This record gives sequence, C-alpha cells and structure tokens, in this order.
Amino acid sequence: AEQQAAYFEQISAELERQNAVLVAHYYCDPVLQELAEKTGGCVADSLEMARFGRDHKAQTLVVAGVRFMGETAKILSPEKRILMPTLEATCSLDLGCPVQEFSAFCDQHPERTVVVYANTSAAVKARADWVVTSSCALEIVESLMDNGEKIIWGPDKHLGRYIQRETGADMLLWDGACIVHEEFKTQQLEDMMALYPEAVVLVHPESPEAVIELADVVGSTSQLIRASQEMEQQTFIVATDKGIFYKMQQLSPGKTFIEAPTAGEGASCRSCASCPWMAMNTLEALLHSLQTGSNEVLVDPALVPKAVKPLQRMLDFTS
Ligand code: 13P
Ligand code: SF4
Repeated sequence: AEQQAAYFEQISAELERQNAVLVAHYYCDPVLQELAEKTGGCVADSLEMARFGRDHKAQTLVVAGVRFMGETAKILSPEKRILMPTLEATCSLDLGCPVQEFSAFCDQHPERTVVVYANTSAAVKARADWVVTSSCALEIVESLMDNGEKIIWGPDKHLGRYIQRETGADMLLWDGACIVHEEFKTQQLEDMMALYPEAVVLVHPESPEAVIELADVVGSTSQLIRASQEMEQQTFIVATDKGIFYKMQQLSPGKTFIEAPTAGEGASCRSCASCPWMAMNTLEALLHSLQTGSNEVLVDPALVPKAVKPLQRMLDFTS
C-alpha cells in the first residue's frame, strides 16, 4: 500500500507536469483504474476511450489497455503524443487478423461493406468501411442492413455470429477469437447457475455462442456495468475479464459479483478470466513510460487518413 501511494504520487506529478491524462480500460488492474479516476482521466470501454482521448485537450494521452487502443487514440489525434505502459500488450483478435490475408478476403467480395471490430491494427482499419466496438456493433450493422448492404465482418467470429443472429444481416465472418472469452465453459456455467438460481448472468459477446445463449444480458463492458447497476437483483454471474469487477463493485457495493467459470470441475473456478495483455499494464511500467517518454505509439502516417475515416464514422454514428 505504501509503495502504491508512492507510485500514485509520482505518476500524478508527472501527468501534471507533462500536461498528460490517463485513459484506462475496464479490464486494467484496479489500481490503474483508480489512478485514472483520481487524476481526472477516464476509465471506459473501448468506444468511450476513443472519444475521450480525441476530445481531451491534454497534449499527451497515456493509454492503459492494449495496443489497438493506443493506435486508435493516435489515429484520431495524430498531433498528440500517445504513451502506453507497454507496447507489447496486443490482443488475440488483432494477432489473428493480418492485414494482407484480411485484405485478400475483402478483395474477393468487393460488393460487400467491410466492418471491423476496433480490436484490429491500424492497417486493417485502413482497409475497412466501418469500425465498431461491442457497444455499437449491433446498431451499426442494423443500419447497414436497412440500407441493403451485405457485410464482411472481422475479426471476432463469436461477436460476428451474435450480431448475425440478432439482426439477420448477411455477413461473411473472419475466423478470429478472443482467447480470454473463448475459455468460458457452458457446462460449468450451468452448474454455477444451479447453485445461484437467483443470479443474473452477464456475458460479453466475445464469448462462444453456447455461453451467450445462457445469458440474461449480453453487452459490451459498459453495457454490462450499467446492467449490474440498474437491475434490482443482488447477485450477478459475470462472463468477462475480471478487471470489470472493480467498477461493478464501486457502483453497487452491496451486490454480489461472481466470476463465471473458465475451467475446473462443477462450479469451481480454476483459472479466472484475465487478459494477459491487459495485465501487462502496471504502475511501474506506466511511471517508466512517463519518465522516459518511451513506449510512444506511432502509426504509419500514410495509414492515418484512411484509418480515421471508419473510426470517425463510428464516433459520428454514436454521438
Ligand atoms: P469493450 O469495447 O466492451 O470495452 O471490450 C473491448 C475489449 O474486448 C477490450 O479487450
Ligand atoms: Fe483482446 Fe480478449 Fe484481451 Fe480484449 S480480452 S484485449 S479481446 S485478448
């Protein structure tokens, strides 16, 4: 605790001195979320992180999350300096969608509108017509469908399948997945639901179809947090990264939040959902980045004008 207080003090001073603001995702270590809140930054889902970063007047944004979040911030504000605690924090969806293969897939279906999840590289965004996050994917695909458009969707097949089921849109899916959400297990979740019959089941749509089918609420991180706050029930089983519990508990201190099982027998939870890349964001790494200016996010300037278009569309659509 003493060491944490020392980090908080040093990082706050550096943020102020450098006219910088901290933007953290709900999956980050709770200490980083707390620090972002205490220093006038923000803790948010990937959509609101993008909007906050773009609109904030600070010259430096420190993005605690994974690489695509830092790149999105840079694409939306090329004139700002974007730092991250680490540049190694990637995402299995981004890794599983190399631009050349994805572009070739798109080229085979030139009549289709290309919709990509925010969890992609700048180069993949530059190939897309739309970028979406899980907060707005359903609405955006619905409106494209109303326009008579057929869709190429990448990279998350589970989210894509979910949207396809909900909207009936004509979508060709890329075969990508989130290694964290893919671990949720139906059988164990059912056992847990039997143990807590009164519990509401909250599921992020990066989870497999059979897990989504067990959900009472399916939604992005911010939507799940809102449901946990607004619903009158007192117990929630939550199928997403455990970093989200910080905000849920903060907003509803009296309620009980249980981690959905990812492995193990019955309802026992052996390895709980935690994104290894999100976990690379530490106070130490954050301070080091601020002190040395290392881990600055750079995006190929040739990609920026192309990648900003589908991102801007998303922000306009959701504003
Ligand atoms: P949200 O957009 O729901 O915050 O989730 C994005 C995500 O998976 C970050 O890893
Ligand atoms: Fe990517 Fe999944 Fe980690 Fe989110 S939780 S950053 S989707 S690997």
